[in-house]
Amino acid sequence: MTANRQILIHSLPEEKLSEANYRMTETAAPEPGAGQVLCRTLAIAITAGTRAGLQGSASYAGAPKTGIVMNGATVSRVANSRHDAFREGDLVLCSGGWQDYSVHEAGQLTRVEPGVDPAHYLGALGTNGLTAYFGMLEVGQPRSGETVLVSAAAGSVGHLAGQIARIQGCRVVGVAGADDKCRALVSELRFDEAVNYRSPGYRTEFKAACPKGVDVYFDNTGGDILGTALRGMNVGGRIACCGVVSQYDTSHPEPGPRGVPGLLINKRVRMQGFLVFDFLPRYDAARRQLRAWMDSGDLIAWQDEYQGLQRAPAAFVDLLAGGNRGTRVVRVAD
Ligand SMILES: NC(=O)c1ccc[n+]([C@@H]2O[C@H](COP(=O)([O-])OP(=O)(O)OC[C@H]3O[C@@H](n4cnc5c(N)ncnc54)[C@H](OP(=O)(O)O)[C@@H]3O)[C@@H](O)[C@H]2O)c1
Repeated sequence: MTANRQILIHSLPEEKLSEANYRMTETAAPEPGAGQVLCRTLAIAITAGTRAGLQGSASYAGAPKTGIVMNGATVSRVANSRHDAFREGDLVLCSGGWQDYSVHEAGQLTRVEPGVDPAHYLGALGTNGLTAYFGMLEVGQPRSGETVLVSAAAGSVGHLAGQIARIQGCRVVGVAGADDKCRALVSELRFDEAVNYRSPGYRTEFKAACPKGVDVYFDNTGGDILGTALRGMNVGGRIACCGVVSQYDTSHPEPGPRGVPGLLINKRVRMQGFLVFDFLPRYDAARRQLRAWMDSGDLIAWQDEYQGLQRAPAAFVDLLAGGNRGTRVVRVAD
């Protein structure tokens, strides 16, 4: 019998998420049925949006439940295949969750192409890279010379979204929660400016960083950062509402910012939410473009790693507190 360690949702967080909301158990690895594939987890993506799932605010994820394996995208190795399209040893992207083994219908697997660290399929070439790509290009619609603002800019989606805007010839300003993150956005990823929202002088520093106002705001956070951005928007600006991470790690999310819709009306601003799944038929083409930008050095994919399945809860709690830079990945096996 092959053992399958699993991390279950033990309880739903009442305020901030804690490691005690999870527990580890062990069971037998599942057997694949006809047309199915057994996958061995190699690495798991730790992403902010799954906290919204635990809060019940991600309607597409359904109601939060306890006693189930914590969800998460994984890069996995095929351990046993009962479908002709996959062979033992193939690398795939799947929704494996926080466990050693998972079974999937073959049609639910994405093949990991060679020549790149497979873990990038959890970041730049995975859901977060696609979110940055479609959210920025299709919803934000940046034009060369415009000023683009990105929040949670040192996080997984944010650091990619900002670079995609820079590749379009825009002036890019990042917002992040630590001075060292802001410095790295400018020095390593070639953002034009980056501002720390925790600084007491944030509003003044934000205005100084955007002297010509903001044309596109890629909003990962909602909350006060959105409130300040709304007041800095130019006529005809676009706000791409990607996520609300400032309001996930609580049972008492704040209402949206004041001034909506008046500020939108006066500046003729378009504020639009999106889900990356809306663009599913175009994923392959987007992945090819993201990969080409990575290969040419235009797009740098930051990765931030924890080792060991048992560390996944700690990695998630720390991500919500801003401990990550780029895509956080938990390595489970070689
Ligand atoms: N629409 C879609 O289809 C879609 C798909 C994927 C992800 N998303 C959204 O994209 C956003 C980023 O997700 P991710 O997985 O890439 O996470 P991430 O940005 O890698 O990690 C979360 C980051 O949020 C920041 N943060 C935490 N609390 C905050 C607060 N109170 N105010 C401001 N910033 C705070 C932290 O950085 P600091 O140090 O800067 O505080 C932290 O590093 C999330 O809102 C997520 O829901 C949307």
